[in-house]
Amino acid sequence: MHPFTFKYQPKTSKEIIGQESAIKKLRDFVINFKKQKKNAALLYGPSGTGKTISAYAIAKELNLEILEVNASDVRNADQINSLLGSAIGQMSLFSKGKLILVDEIDGLSGTKDRGGLQAIAKLIEKSSFPIVLTATNPWDYKFNNLRRRAEMIEFAPLDYKDISIILKSICINEKIKFEEEVLKGLARRAGNDARAAINDLQTLAMEAKELTKESLEELGERNKLESMPNALAKIFKSTDPKVAIVAFDAVEENLDQQLLWIDENLPKEYTNPEDLAKAYDKLSKADMFSRRIRRWQHWRFLVYINALITAGIAVSKKEKYKHYVQYKPTGKLLKLWWAKQKSMKKKAIAEKIAEKTHTSKKEALKSTLPYLQAAFKKNRDFREQLTLELDLSREEAEWLRK
Ligand SMILES: Nc1ncnc2c1ncn2[C@@H]1O[C@H](COP(=O)(O)OP(=O)(O)OP(=O)(O)O)[C@@H](O)[C@H]1O
Ligand SMILES: [Mg+2]
Repeated sequence: MHPFTFKYQPKTSKEIIGQESAIKKLRDFVINFKKQKKNAALLYGPSGTGKTISAYAIAKELNLEILEVNASDVRNADQINSLLGSAIGQMSLFSKGKLILVDEIDGLSGTKDRGGLQAIAKLIEKSSFPIVLTATNPWDYKFNNLRRRAEMIEFAPLDYKDISIILKSICINEKIKFEEEVLKGLARRAGNDARAAINDLQTLAMEAKELTKESLEELGERNKLESMPNALAKIFKSTDPKVAIVAFDAVEENLDQQLLWIDENLPKEYTNPEDLAKAYDKLSKADMFSRRIRRWQHWRFLVYINALITAGIAVSKKEKYKHYVQYKPTGKLLKLWWAKQKSMKKKAIAEKIAEKTHTSKKEALKSTLPYLQAAFKKNRDFREQLTLELDLSREEAEWLRK
């Protein structure tokens, strides 16, 4: 199954919502390229606002061939020069024009040893073709030099109305029934990020072809519980180490669980065996470090572990996979989850006891419940009576008997 963001990716600039002025600037820049001083345009703005798709749409509309380099795949000046060096020269008389896209330059290093940014600055100077760069944070000091050489084009944060429009047209196409309010709610909770909103929509649509208030609330709940799949997406769906490295910062799960989650979902995402082998190499090193921590208390290994399982795994792939994978917990984690469910059952029963006996839940849990449970196991009459009295569900009764 294709992600909606792929299936409904705008193909023309008209379909790109809320970025009219940025698109106009970009088009003017490309059309007037020969006449102006600046050889590059830097598209900047939050994630999921249409920077990359705009470059593609404009190139297509102006009948230009697009040459894309993802900056996170090229680590140093040599790699950049070997990919782009020959592409920037004069075009032959009969060939199609070109637009060079260096996407996501945030991850490029500004230090002399790597020289990625310097190499790009030099290419810009010499290029016979328009170069379009994209970044989410162009104000980093390492871009000082580039900013002077590039026409700065802002992609404004999308507001919820813009995002609603995008979601609505997908719903209509997919024959998903929706309440207007729910669509707005979905749009709001995604912040300015159209990509995030569309992904949420797809998650909901997988369960039912109708969006209700309840489903939206559920999604809210789930996202609180399920920050883990989101964290995995940051690692699996990115090739930018900067994006990946913070992936686990906001999750509750501990290191062991992080390793298990990756272990379980990695082979589903990385279907290219070479990528998979590289990624597992990182994972097994992380595992080795984590054992050393346990055995010898070498806590300083913790930073290596995090780097290996986030950025390390992110850059183990040649390119991002376009397929959509629902990340799931492992069998082991499921067992933990069941254990938690059981303790919840216990709590639910204690609550009922507390109500009937006018004691606190804590008290019921500690003193009354074990006593009742013993009697419950032995005596059939008591079992029936108590089930009625406390209005126990079948699962609760079963739990008490064990
Ligand atoms: N303005 C928009 N109008 C319609 N769809 C959009 C818009 N912005 C983003 N999208 C949707 O989100 C997806 C991602 O957009 P895009 O790749 O252009 O984001 P981006 O700004 O380059 O983000 P990033 O900084 O993360 O690379 C697109 O495939 C499209 O489905
Ligand atoms: Mg992009």
